[in-house]
Order: sequence, then structure tokens, then C-alpha cells
Amino acid sequence: MADKLPIAVLISGTGRTVKNLIDHIEAGKLDVEIRLVVSSSERAPGLQYAEQNNIPIAIVKSSEYSETKEFSAAVFDACRQAKVAYVAMAGYLQLLEIPTDFEDKVLNIHPSLLPKFGGKGFYGYHVHHAVLTAGEEISGATVHFVNNKFDDGPIILQETVKVYPRDTIETLSERVLKEAEFVAYPKALQAIAEGRVQFDAERRVQILPKEA
Ligand code: GRF
Repeated sequence: MADKLPIAVLISGTGRTVKNLIDHIEAGKLDVEIRLVVSSSERAPGLQYAEQNNIPIAIVKSSEYSETKEFSAAVFDACRQAKVAYVAMAGYLQLLEIPTDFEDKVLNIHPSLLPKFGGKGFYGYHVHHAVLTAGEEISGATVHFVNNKFDDGPIILQETVKVYPRDTIETLSERVLKEAEFVAYPKALQAIAEGRVQFDAERRVQILPKEA
């Protein structure tokens, strides 16, 4: 068993991603401690999962800050106070400026196989609509480190799903969430908790195999 990796989770919405992480932790499959949930809205339904599990909550709203830099500073101040080592965006819809002490410490999950179907405007159903319109036969989810652009940082890992001719946005998004996102995020965080995630000389992420 690896030591528990202290993390903060950033949410904006329904919170299925943070719920999945909590479920994996409770099942003993993820050596992570969620020390803080930061929400961009006090109305995010996902806050219920923090409340049910006695996880401290911080509400940090971008509307209360005039600059991205100040808003980001408030988010990361809360993370620093909670003494977390990593920050996991989970359905988080705000762009953040990553401070130096959190470089390569912030993760995001995106519901497509980046670099395809990522960037500004590609969120929620827009992603799956674009995948279906392009006639893709495979989609999936990408866990990546976050830099100061949407969906742009080094890729940690990807999980794929098939796209079927009869798929709708709803059926595809459900398959990507359950079969790709719910698998990929715990896997990436567990690899970090076990100290198996490294960068190579070209800043590509390498995941070392588990020791036998
Ligand atoms: C998922 O599509 C995920 O890829 C994206 O947000 C959606 C989940 O939101 N980042 P939530 O966790 O239910 O709030």
C-alpha cells in the first residue's frame, strides 16, 4: 500500500467524478485522501458528496475576482492551507493560472482522446456531439496535467471506448463517463500515489510499471 496522497478536488457541477473517486477510496482501491473540495459555485450539486463524507469545502467564485490571476490565487491558497500535494479538476469549468508551486501538480480529466476535441468550448455534450459529427469510431477519456490553456498539458493516460453508429450524445457520454473516465482518473491518481509518474526529457509523461 502506498502512503495516502493528499489532494484537493475542484468541481463545478454534478460531481459524478468526485463521487467516483470517493467510491474508489472507500473500496480501498485508491490511496488518496481528499482533504478539500473546492467548488466554483455554492449551488454545485456535487457538494453533497463532500458533505456526506465530511470533506471540507471551499467555495471560490470567479465572479468575485476581476482577474484570473487573483481568482486562481484564491483557489490555490485554499489548496495550500489544506496541505495537499495534488489538485484534481473534476468537471471543473474555470480556467486557472497555475502558480509555480503547483506546476505539474494539477490534473484534469477530459471526455475525449486529446488532442482531439479539446480546447475552449469543448466541454460537456459539445465534445460528444463533435465526436459523433466527425464519424469517429473510437472515443474515450484523457487524464492530463493542467497548464494555463484549456485541455493542453502533458497527457498522463487515456482509456478508450467504441463509438457505435446508433450512438446519441447521451449514450456516448454515458459510456465515456462510466467505462473510460471512471477507470482513467483513479488509475492516474493511483500511479501518482505510488510514485510511478515521471516526465521524460521531452516533457512526456511516463508511467513506470508496478514493482513485482
Ligand atoms: C465529465 O464529462 C468530465 O469529463 C468533465 O465533467 C464531466 C463530469 O462532471 N470534466 P461531474 O463530475 O459530474 O460534475
